[in-house]
Parts: sequence; structure tokens; C-alpha cells
Amino acid sequence: MFLLRQPGGTTVATKVTRNPRVSSTVQVKRHDLVAQHFASHTPVVLGTATEAGLDVIVTAAPAVWSLDEAIDRLGPTPGLHAVWRDVVAALVTVWRSTAQPGFDPANATRKHDLRCRRGHQGLEDALTGELGPPSQWSNLVINRRDSMSWSRAFGRLLGVGRPDFRVTCHGDPHAGNVLVAADGTWYLVDWEWSGDHHDWRMMISHLLGGWYVRDLMDHASGTATATPDGVLLDYVIGGTPRLRQFADPAAEAFRQMTTPAQAEQDLSDVARYVALLLLREIPRAALTGRRHLIAPLLGECVRLTMGDHARHPAMRLLASSIRAAA
Ligand SMILES: Nc1ncnc2c1ncn2[C@@H]1O[C@H](COP(=O)(O)OP(=O)(O)OP(=O)(O)O)[C@@H](O)[C@H]1O
Ligand SMILES: [Mg+2]
Repeated sequence: MFLLRQPGGTTVATKVTRNPRVSSTVQVKRHDLVAQHFASHTPVVLGTATEAGLDVIVTAAPAVWSLDEAIDRLGPTPGLHAVWRDVVAALVTVWRSTAQPGFDPANATRKHDLRCRRGHQGLEDALTGELGPPSQWSNLVINRRDSMSWSRAFGRLLGVGRPDFRVTCHGDPHAGNVLVAADGTWYLVDWEWSGDHHDWRMMISHLLGGWYVRDLMDHASGTATATPDGVLLDYVIGGTPRLRQFADPAAEAFRQMTTPAQAEQDLSDVARYVALLLLREIPRAALTGRRHLIAPLLGECVRLTMGDHARHPAMRLLASSIRAAA
């Protein structure tokens, strides 16, 4: 991504990708869908080009920081919290106005089973050398307390239920994909996964999980060891979650979207989607030399697939928001 200042003083963003998963032409179509619902919150596309395996998309740059970067520089200020609340409220409004009966995983804009299999493959590539193949982790022992086989945890991860309806969404709503201007105006970027066939519970996992994963990765540390008794994951979560307040809007969104009859199932499905976000961080952590994160990421991923997710720190807020509503 390059920010280019033009002679007139305006700035444009130029994103260059080699062999993109979603071509710039398709991204423009997806941009148009987002623009249809978030007109004043979507930068305009100025042009695209494809040349020798390189894909280029040029868009207006109405702001230079993402919300993530703004928090890095300014801290989690009340103003940035208000921006995030506004973003989430706008997403929920669109979910509600575009809800259509029927959600079919085979037609979903983001396919959960495919994401799980990529996550599994990443785990295998990153950890087999050290811990043996994941298929043989028949006893993962988490802080000497909980234990489960990886196959069972992975089966539970795959086994999310279906919502009753599908919704239109940006598709990857995390703080790195929200630009914030100095006056608090915000814009959605990165439209790769925008579409009209989303599971809102997966979208909630992004609204919630981004903050949870970031806090976890800032403070947690531990070791993963293969022993004759199984793979031992010993870790501490550490530190107080700095960004916990940023999960409030997701809890409110969950309360608005679920129903008393579905709440239990929805909660356990959001937990599985959050578990997948943790799983997908493991190869990145291993590749970038942050091996102390492997045990906490894997351990919390497995814990989120166990039956008592309502008490899990990532999920407590959602669980209490539905208890309060009941
Ligand atoms: N139109 C824009 N104006 C200004 N900055 C932008 C714009 N689009 C993207 N950016 C910045 O570039 C970053 C990456 O862009 P984008 O999210 O589209 O790509 P990505 O596929 O997520 O890439 P990466 O994996 O590097 O984040 C964003 O987080 C944001 O900070
Ligand atoms: Mg992005």
C-alpha cells in the first residue's frame, strides 16, 4: 500500500498485490456493494490495473490512519471508542436491513470450513517439527487442568450451526480496515470479503476477536512441549486487557441480533469463530519468532471450543449482555 501525494495536494492510496486471492476487478464490484450501504463511509475507487501478475487498485485516501494505528499512537481514547461504537452500529443497521431468510454455507461469501482447513494446514506446517503432527495430539493438556484431543477440538471448531438468515456485510470488519480522520469521520477499506451472504455471528467474531486477540498477544506467554503424556501447554495470560472496552459494541450488537431461543447456540458459534481467529494467528506467531505465543493461542483456541465458553474472558461480555436482556 502506497499513499501518494498529488500535485493538487490530495492524497491517493495505491494498493499493489501480487497474485491476489480476489482480483482488483472483483474488489471494485465488492467496493460498490459496500458503497451502496455505507456511501459516505467508503473512499471512491479511482482506477485499477493488472499487469504481469500484479494487481493495482487506486482509491481516494480521505484519512491516513487506520483505527488500529490511531490506537497505537494515541492510546484507546474515548474519541476512538466512540468511532468504533459508531462503526459497529452502522454495520448492525445494514445487517438488519438486508437480512434475507436462508444461509447456505456453500454459498457464503466467507466459507468457514475453508478457513478452518487453512488454519489446520497452517498449524501443521508451523508446529509438526516441534510437536508432531496435530492429528496425533490426542491429549492437549492446558495448564494442567483442561485437556482435549486436537481432532475433537477441530471437529467442534468446524461444527458451527447455521443462522436463520444471511446478511450483507463488509466481511472483514476489524480496526485495521477502518480509516479514521482527525475529526472522527471514518471509512471502511479492504472490500475483499464484502458480500451479501454472511453469517452475522462470524462478523461479530471479528468485531470482538480483533481486540481480544490483540490484548492476548500483547501480554500472554508460555511453552508448548511434547511429552509421553501428551502435548503440554503451560502459559499465563498476564496483564489487564487494555482494549476490553472496545468489545462493548460487539456485545451490544450481539444482544440486538440474537433471540432468546437462539442465544445459547449463537454464543457457542461466536466462540468457535473467535477460536478460529486464534488458530490463524499461530503460524504468523511461529514465523515471526514469537514462539511464546504458541501455547496461549492454541490453549485458548481449544478452550473456546469446550462447553463452558460462556465463562471464557473473550465471551463473558456477550454472555452477560444476553442475561441482562432476558
Ligand atoms: N483508501 C485508503 N486510504 C488511506 N489508507 C488506506 C486506504 N486503504 C488502505 N489503507 C491503509 O493500508 C492498510 C492496508 O490496506 P488494506 O486493508 O486494503 O490491505 P490488506 O490486504 O489488509 O493488507 P495488509 O495485510 O497489509 O493489512 C490499511 O490498514 C490502511 O491503514
Ligand atoms: Mg486490511
